[in-house]
Amino acid sequence: MMRVLVACEYSGTVRDAFISAGHDAISCDILPTDNPGPHYQGDVRDMLFERWDLIIAHPPCTYLCNSGVCHLHKDPTRWAKLEDAASFFKLFLDIDGPRVAIENPIMHKYARELIGGSKQNQVVQPWMFGHAETKATCLWLKGLPNLQPTNNVKEELKGMHKRDIQRLHYLPPGPERAKIRSKTYQGLADAMASQWGCLYD
Ligand SMILES: C[S@@+](CC[C@H](N)C(=O)[O-])C[C@H]1O[C@@H](n2cnc3c(N)ncnc32)[C@H](O)[C@@H]1O
Repeated sequence: MMRVLVACEYSGTVRDAFISAGHDAISCDILPTDNPGPHYQGDVRDMLFERWDLIIAHPPCTYLCNSGVCHLHKDPTRWAKLEDAASFFKLFLDIDGPRVAIENPIMHKYARELIGGSKQNQVVQPWMFGHAETKATCLWLKGLPNLQPTNNVKEELKGMHKRDIQRLHYLPPGPERAKIRSKTYQGLADAMASQWGCLYD
């Protein structure tokens, strides 16, 4: 059984995939968890340096992601926020000991420089894991193999409307928009649990 910390997760999706696979997993977020289960509501730095076999982290991407890079040049206050976000991301990159996976969208060049130039190990898409949608998701991996697609449904995208393929991009504004957009896809969470959950020593 692995001891798994799912950092920056309010949804419990990855946590519950590991629990279903027989592991001792806990999620942590400054928000409460949306689904009942083991969850620490608070700053992940309170528990990051405990003994973990595996850490899966979903650090905030607002100031790091390429899709937001244009705002940096319009709003100078974002540079300091970018530095904070990059330092937070680097906490997971630099942690010594456990296996680590960090998930984030495509990063812009300033963020990449601030995290020390480290390049993601792979870019995955929801359609590789049974969801007929696109959303490029990068994974930085330490001590873990690249994820293998579990259910490639790319063919289904042909003929689908762009608004459906990029469902998350086209979500209407609303109080839940950011939360819905950042929730991990179930197929990706299940692949992590089945392919990485078997690696314990
Ligand atoms: C991009 S979202 C990830 C959501 C995740 N994929 C899920 O399914 O729940 C980033 C999350 O990091 C959380 N967060 C930000 N700073 C944090 C901190 N210092 N400690 C713990 N969680 C934090 C936010 O509240 C937010 O829910």
